[in-house]
Amino acid sequence: MSDTLTKLTYQTFQQGKSYFGLVHKILGSQLMNLMHPSLGKRGKRIPPEVLLKLQQRINQLLESDWQDAEKGVYPESLLFDNPWSDFFRHYPMLCLELPEIWKRSEQKRYQDFSPEVETDGYPSYFLQNFHNQINGYLSDNSANLYDLQVEILFNGTADPMRRRILSPLKLGLQAFDSLPQRKIRILDVACGTGRTLRMIRGAFPQASLYGTDLSPAYLRKANQQLSEIPGELPQLLQANAEELPYLNDYFHAVTSVFLFHELPANVRQTVIEQCFRVTKPGGVFVICDSIQMSDAPEFSVSMESFPEIFHEPYYRNYIDDDLVERLEKAGFENISTKVHFMSKYFVAHKPAEK
Ligand SMILES: C[S@@+](CC[C@H](N)C(=O)[O-])C[C@H]1O[C@@H](n2cnc3c(N)ncnc32)[C@H](O)[C@@H]1O
Repeated sequence: MSDTLTKLTYQTFQQGKSYFGLVHKILGSQLMNLMHPSLGKRGKRIPPEVLLKLQQRINQLLESDWQDAEKGVYPESLLFDNPWSDFFRHYPMLCLELPEIWKRSEQKRYQDFSPEVETDGYPSYFLQNFHNQINGYLSDNSANLYDLQVEILFNGTADPMRRRILSPLKLGLQAFDSLPQRKIRILDVACGTGRTLRMIRGAFPQASLYGTDLSPAYLRKANQQLSEIPGELPQLLQANAEELPYLNDYFHAVTSVFLFHELPANVRQTVIEQCFRVTKPGGVFVICDSIQMSDAPEFSVSMESFPEIFHEPYYRNYIDDDLVERLEKAGFENISTKVHFMSKYFVAHKPAEK
């Protein structure tokens, strides 16, 4: 396929996902307003000029995604990677659950777990119905619906946002260029259903990949999705990111996507310190998470509404938190940040051995 045709196909593919997300949200909120008018009053209406700016940011994000593929940071095929059969299979369930989710949200039942769900041993900050998900992160059903929910939330841009970690990762790993790729170890902290590891595998076909998460259900889903792709299966381990079960200085690179806004402030610091501990001297740590207030005050309406509509108890604190200071406190140096659409990226380096 010629480059122009591939780019057009990619843009059409993304537009399809975007329309799907929009239509779902419009129809969903109309039904919600009918059934639970009080919920419709939560969050502020996004003004048209902000919507326009958001669309411009999406266009820039997709252009960066295309450019990185063209430059060979990852293969073009990764641009079209999408769990279609999973999406079609689980979309009806996502719709069927909406009335129950609205009811719970109206009653402000945010720590609501079915009796059959094992909640012992998890930190209390984790036992929340994040995004109003039934049983939070602790059920197979929640794991089946998660990727679809995130795609709808971001109008199909979740994977393009995740892929923005790949270019800084490649750049950071140049420090270990003398090693063959199969000797490179990359850890994804809070890997969830494995989407980021799937993207990393596309860019690093031979590296040894590792993933940890607290949720056994999400790890099961990750295992299922990752075993479909060629290359060695990433090693997945259930663990709290506050106590990573790895040796000091073990990984050439560590990544974490969409975790930090779901942690209380003190836990954010502990997790960053753990990531520092397991990174090799000279290695790189790449975080992708939500934009923060100082990055885009013009999007304050969306940032203020988000935690109200999708139960996100630590988000308000996160958007004003100084993660660069936290990274420096842990020992990282040479820290840079970048913003793409609604995501912010922190790239930090562990000082090399003298
Ligand atoms: C918003 S999801 C992000 C998942 C994935 N990284 C992605 O890109 O979609 C947050 C993930 O963090 C995990 N998590 C939350 N607190 C954690 C902790 N203390 N230790 C390990 N995983 C945690 C959850 O189980 C969930 O899978």
